[in-house]
Amino acid sequence: MGELRMSSLIDGFGRVHRDLRVSLTDRCNLRCTYCMPADFSDWIPGDHLLTTDELMLVLDVATSMGIDGVRLTGGEPLLRPDIVDVVKRIYALPHAPSISLTTNALRLTDLAQPLADAGLQRVNVSLDTLDRDRFKALTHRDRFDDVIAGIEAAKAAGLLPVKVNSVLMRGVNDDEAVALLRHALDNGWNLRFIEQMPLDAGGLWARPKMITADDILEMLSAEFTLTPVEGRGSAPAEEFYVDGGPATVGIIASVSRPFCAACDRLRLTADGQFRNCLFSAEETDVRAVVRDTSLDDAARREGIEQILHQVTRSKLPGHGINDASFIQPARPMSAIGG
Ligand code: 5AD
Ligand code: SF4
Repeated sequence: MGELRMSSLIDGFGRVHRDLRVSLTDRCNLRCTYCMPADFSDWIPGDHLLTTDELMLVLDVATSMGIDGVRLTGGEPLLRPDIVDVVKRIYALPHAPSISLTTNALRLTDLAQPLADAGLQRVNVSLDTLDRDRFKALTHRDRFDDVIAGIEAAKAAGLLPVKVNSVLMRGVNDDEAVALLRHALDNGWNLRFIEQMPLDAGGLWARPKMITADDILEMLSAEFTLTPVEGRGSAPAEEFYVDGGPATVGIIASVSRPFCAACDRLRLTADGQFRNCLFSAEETDVRAVVRDTSLDDAARREGIEQILHQVTRSKLPGHGINDASFIQPARPMSAIGG
């Protein structure tokens, strides 16, 4: 780790890819309205999921090609029964990447310390409200206290800084921008607001209803002084010092201020499909190569390399959400990975 290596994953626009988002399962123990309908049932069949051995082969190849950061996502990644082992084995790869995880925190009270011991470095927790009843309405589960306990467990385990992601929705929780930031400052959370994206299985997203970065900055500026932090690099979040710093707040404005030009991310779904964007219309099947019994080890690795090069090369300049011709991906966020 910390080793500086060239990445050979360069696309047609010169973007160098170093970050891989790996979805470990499409299952979740919440039902956030913007992600999954309450009665969602279109799950990935179990035998389509990459086994941990299969995943490690793909990650071994990807990290040898220049991927140096792996973020584990879901669904809810902590529902993967062998999640601690997955982290341990990624940490033990010859070119070990930095390892982070995006979670709803429900299982962190039990898992934060074992995950930190296994080599996990950071967590992003999703939390959209500080109101218990609202949380229940938003996620269809009465689990607010478990999230707060999970965030505390992450802090205690040294998974720092704990980033908390909030999606604001008009008429639902957009009155909480200031309260969320105050609470974050008081509790040492690194808060980021994410614009709602058209990725919900229920097809509820509508551009005019969206709370934009401008809306959020206006609400926060009524209570706080925000100054831009320079040097964003490939990070999705625009960061601002709050009242002179050192605390910051981030805004991930995927829709109103797209950051595709600096994107360094590729994605692997739990069923072994590579995607070069959250919003790609195409996926490339790496599971078929990994499971092809007619290939020897070297040929399998070669096949995975070819797929990674092809997926990178075919990346479009941007997601096109703001174009009239935009088509929402066929799979919901829970199946693609956040
Ligand atoms: N738009 C924006 N963010 C979303 N997330 C899930 N669905 C959406 C969406 N449609 C967020 C979750 C979590 C991360 C994985 O992505 O809240 O923080
Ligand atoms: Fe689960 Fe995350 Fe989707 Fe919420 S947004 S239902 S926590 S996968």
